[in-house]
Amino acid sequence: MLKIVVCVSGGGTNLQAIMDAIADGKITNTEILAVISNNAGAKALERARDRGICDICISPKSYPDRESFNQAFTDKVKELAPDIVVLAGFLVRIPPQMVQAFSNRIINIHPSLIPSFCGVGYYGLKVHEKVLERGVKVTGATVHFVNEGMDEGPIIAQKPVMIEPDDTPEILQRRVMEQAEWILLPQAIDDIANNRLEIRDNHVFRR
Ligand code: GRF
Repeated sequence: MLKIVVCVSGGGTNLQAIMDAIADGKITNTEILAVISNNAGAKALERARDRGICDICISPKSYPDRESFNQAFTDKVKELAPDIVVLAGFLVRIPPQMVQAFSNRIINIHPSLIPSFCGVGYYGLKVHEKVLERGVKVTGATVHFVNEGMDEGPIIAQKPVMIEPDDTPEILQRRVMEQAEWILLPQAIDDIANNRLEIRDNHVFRR
């Protein structure tokens, strides 16, 4: 059984997709140990509580400096002892000591086709604003392992989504979620839970 901790900051629609996929048997051999948020008001925490899943709030704002938050957050996750950590719309930079402790065991969903529209400053709606500003015709989403860089770890899966003529950032964000994120992230978890992936030379392969 793959034990996962899901980290969230906002709406939690990706968390919902994971919980639904577990309930429907689309993700097998997987159990959510806890949902962690940096934001006590996150709707995602409500979604977790509705399913009877342990919800934890831990925010940098409650610590005197970043280093003490980083240590407390890492200790909390270590205490839960998951096999993998899933970042599902988590807006906090993962502490270096956590990346080390969970090497190739943290995955993230990013709402663009990496390496386009990613890195510092590319999060949430901003990604879709930049996509529309640039006028690209195709965008999408990426699931990747997390390393020390920003959106730089080995890519697990990607899915393209077409831009439509009258798109606004909000409309595009919703389409990327519906057509890519809510499909890709549960699939990646199921692949890991069922031992279908391996990493060689920083690249992910299907067994
Ligand atoms: C998603 O678009 C995710 O890719 C991005 O933040 C958004 C989170 O949405 N990193 P939700 O909280 O899962 O609804």
